[in-house]
Amino acid sequence: MIVSAIAAVAENGVIGRDGDLPWHLPDDLRFFQQTTRGHHVITGRKNYESIPLKYRPLKDRVNIVVTRSRGYEAPGAVVVHTLEDALAHARLHGETEAFIIGGGQVYREAFDRKLLDRIYLTRVHAQVEGDTSFPVIEGGAWSEILREEHPADERHAHAFSIVILERI
Ligand SMILES: NC(=O)c1ccc[n+]([C@@H]2O[C@H](COP(=O)([O-])OP(=O)(O)OC[C@H]3O[C@@H](n4cnc5c(N)ncnc54)[C@H](OP(=O)(O)O)[C@@H]3O)[C@@H](O)[C@H]2O)c1
Repeated sequence: MIVSAIAAVAENGVIGRDGDLPWHLPDDLRFFQQTTRGHHVITGRKNYESIPLKYRPLKDRVNIVVTRSRGYEAPGAVVVHTLEDALAHARLHGETEAFIIGGGQVYREAFDRKLLDRIYLTRVHAQVEGDTSFPVIEGGAWSEILREEHPADERHAHAFSIVILERI
């Protein structure tokens, strides 16, 4: 099973502000939906709760919420207490590619433990204020296998590049 992360990251590393995304980039959201549809998605409890109630669990995906809280309930989602258990659940159910979808704490742990094979990274071409950031991606450890540019336009305040990185 491939373990992937998918994230949108500003040039200064910011990914979140006040429990939400610091931008609205509909074509990036579409990329997220298309890429993760049909797969297991693994989310930290805070990121899960940042999804509006009417959109969670994210449809057409198995949602796995990671929390240390034993009594936590997330109707329609699988609740686990470690990232390893999240990955084991996906593997047990025949997943070929599981997606870690954030937020900051969960990405950091995935990096620290070298769990990731692939990163779907939207580089948002802006310096953005925020309180949550993405880990620094070590140069030399990853190779870029795809890049797609998206200009700023009337629907997108920032230009962005979607890149796919694979661990060398
Ligand atoms: N730009 C992007 O691509 C992107 C993507 C996703 C999220 N975000 C943003 O990121 C922010 C949320 O990130 P965050 O860092 O605050 O929180 P988070 O990573 O979403 O969730 C943190 C929570 O996950 C649980 N957790 C983390 N590590 C765990 C472990 N090892 N074992 C068990 N449970 C664990 C804990 O839940 P309990 O406290 O319940 O124990 C912890 O409080 C929001 O602003 C969101 O919009 C941005």
